[in-house]
Amino acid sequence: MNEFSENNPFNISNQKVSATCPSNIALIKYWGKYEPQIPANPSISYTLNHCKTNTEMEFLVDEKFSVQTFLSGNEEPKFAQKIEKYFQKIEEYLPWILKGKYIIKTENTFPHSSGIASSASGFGAIAKCLMNLDEQFSGKTNEDFKLKKASFLARLGSGSACRSLYEGLVVWGKTEEVAESSDLFAVQYPNEEIHPIFKSFNDWVLLIHEGEKSVSSTVGHGLMNTNPYAQRRFQEAHENFKTIKSILKNGDLQEFIKLVEHEALTLHAMMMMSEPAFILMKTGTLQVINKIWEFRKETNLPLFFTLDAGANVHLLFPENSDSEKIQEFIVKELLQFTQNNGVVKDVMRF
Ligand code: DP6
Repeated sequence: MNEFSENNPFNISNQKVSATCPSNIALIKYWGKYEPQIPANPSISYTLNHCKTNTEMEFLVDEKFSVQTFLSGNEEPKFAQKIEKYFQKIEEYLPWILKGKYIIKTENTFPHSSGIASSASGFGAIAKCLMNLDEQFSGKTNEDFKLKKASFLARLGSGSACRSLYEGLVVWGKTEEVAESSDLFAVQYPNEEIHPIFKSFNDWVLLIHEGEKSVSSTVGHGLMNTNPYAQRRFQEAHENFKTIKSILKNGDLQEFIKLVEHEALTLHAMMMMSEPAFILMKTGTLQVINKIWEFRKETNLPLFFTLDAGANVHLLFPENSDSEKIQEFIVKELLQFTQNNGVVKDVMRF
């Protein structure tokens, strides 16, 4: 039982609701978790602006519990099974949830193969739809609580999804560096503690490898249970929170670059040191990283990278007078390493 458990009466009816939720990209990574979906360390991410999932959810009250899902108009029975299991898991928090049939239509504004976390935006949008239904059925309206509970519910679908409910920089996982932070839901990083340089940032995703990931995040997180370096990693994430807090305040871009790249490489190093081991970078990933490092050495311009659990490279750079030169370099020198000239351009502004 917690503040999100519910056993009050409800009044259900046929409803159609919809919601939109963006994806996010972590700067300090979540990698390793405990039951029930508790992160092994705190993480912080940027919520993206353009890469989103739009979801429409129809609830039919007089029918047996079942879920039907469509992705961009095509029926996806595998996704439906996943959502059915998820709904069964969260009944304690939404007591009406198994009392009808769902038709869920969803579409992403970014390519499926891009490695952009569609589970984050996907579960974020579903959790928002559920809270819209809950508002109708319970008659309760409290916008702050609704968002917090949506973040709590999204987490139970996919950990990183809980961060997508909020804009800007978002923290998930208890850390003494951020008041109100929690393992159960995400919170927005305090806006007044962020230097303006970090409030207008580009994230261009180079699609080095399009296709299925070779390790699912569930398997990946699981590998941390037997990784001999795991405890040190979890401790380092806590230390990195202390560091990023002062960087975010004082606007030290050089230190920010160092920390964010270190986090990305640590995530991949952890996978290389797992049993079995995974190398998720491709040749193109390494070529891009080397090119970025050369470019920075030669020009001193603030272009840097982060990686998710895959081969694609998120190119990060502030949106200011330098961005034009950086963009030229990306197009001229880095696009050649993508599979099909694939790049998804996003921007964080808040
Ligand atoms: C590498 O949130 O996809 O993107 O909780 O099992 O659904 P599950 O994992 P998921 O893991 C994301 C890991 C990451 C880093 C991050 O986003 O913090």
